[in-house]
Amino acid sequence: PFEPRNTRLVPADTAGIAEAARLIAAGGLVALPTETVYGLGCDATSPTAVANLYNAKGRPSFNPLIAHVPDIAAARQVGHLTSSAETLAERFWPGPLTLVVPAYDGPTCALARAGLASVAIRVPAHEIARQVLRMVGRAVAAPSANRSGHVSPTTAPHVLADLEGRIDLILDAGPTLVGVESTILDCTGETPVMLRPGGLPREEIEAALRQSIQSPSPKAPEEPGAEIAPLAPGMLASHYAPSVPVRLNARDVRPGEALLTFAGAHPPGFEAARAYRDLSPSGELVEAAAHLFAYLRDLDASGARAIAVVPLPRHGLGEAIADRLSRAAAPR
Ligand code: TXA
Ligand code: MG
Repeated sequence: PFEPRNTRLVPADTAGIAEAARLIAAGGLVALPTETVYGLGCDATSPTAVANLYNAKGRPSFNPLIAHVPDIAAARQVGHLTSSAETLAERFWPGPLTLVVPAYDGPTCALARAGLASVAIRVPAHEIARQVLRMVGRAVAAPSANRSGHVSPTTAPHVLADLEGRIDLILDAGPTLVGVESTILDCTGETPVMLRPGGLPREEIEAALRQSIQSPSPKAPEEPGAEIAPLAPGMLASHYAPSVPVRLNARDVRPGEALLTFAGAHPPGFEAARAYRDLSPSGELVEAAAHLFAYLRDLDASGARAIAVVPLPRHGLGEAIADRLSRAAAPR
């Protein structure tokens, strides 16, 4: 059960930004735009606020949250930036990259870290988010602003659809640019490990570090144990899930299906599709990532019995897109 709240949706103007910061500092729950997806922010130092946040999202168990800060200097107060973390922070922050490093006690409460000795830190590149973070003056814990297991929100109305009555405020700054969540790198060990592919492509990180990044052999979603030992603790196999089944690598469209396509591909059966969306008619992965979650929502609402997805390229942002789609398609 959650405590019902009067949820207000306001534009991200000067008054809205000040109200968002005031509410977060006072222990409230505020959805705010980042360049990746909308986050649900609260004071990371307050166990009560964090507990309310888990409750509002309907998270089945505690799952560590990303601490959001306005700049590198603030990040250095939250955790120990190891040498690889320093290199990556200098190169890619602000931006869609989250670094897991050894945590300091205090700047985030233990509940926000789900009791871990490490903390995930991110400096978002969205100007509205950074203004709110500067005004709050403390780390803001912010998971994606969706109900647990649902598709992440890339617009304020997506947030409202999932969380109305459960949170205090939604700052509306239009659709997010990147469209998939940040890339998460574990920088606690000798060499960084990619826990979640995301908005910053692997190739750029490898070029900056002049080394290849380990991908801890991710358990296939259908493999036993995948739900028990996910890479990032929150990465359950079935996640980002529309309500209807998702069929990947579709070479045709079957009766009653909707189609998620790419680069103008028209597989056989296309004419009979219940609905379709093209992630990027010109075949650009950056555009595809930006459209992914909104189009999944659209097709989910089309009345189709399933969503067929054409094969997509795997390089660049294709890695994050493939990851999210495989979770959307996982058995549940
Ligand atoms: O783009 C993003 O990262 C968005 C925006 C709002 O910033 N946030 C986001 O948060 O995607 P969330 O909670 O949906 O995903 C955070 C992921 C979870 O899978 C969690 O398990 C992992 O980060 N995580 C957090 N702290 C961690 C830690 N100390 N070690 C390993 N994984 C961690
Ligand atoms: Mg999420």
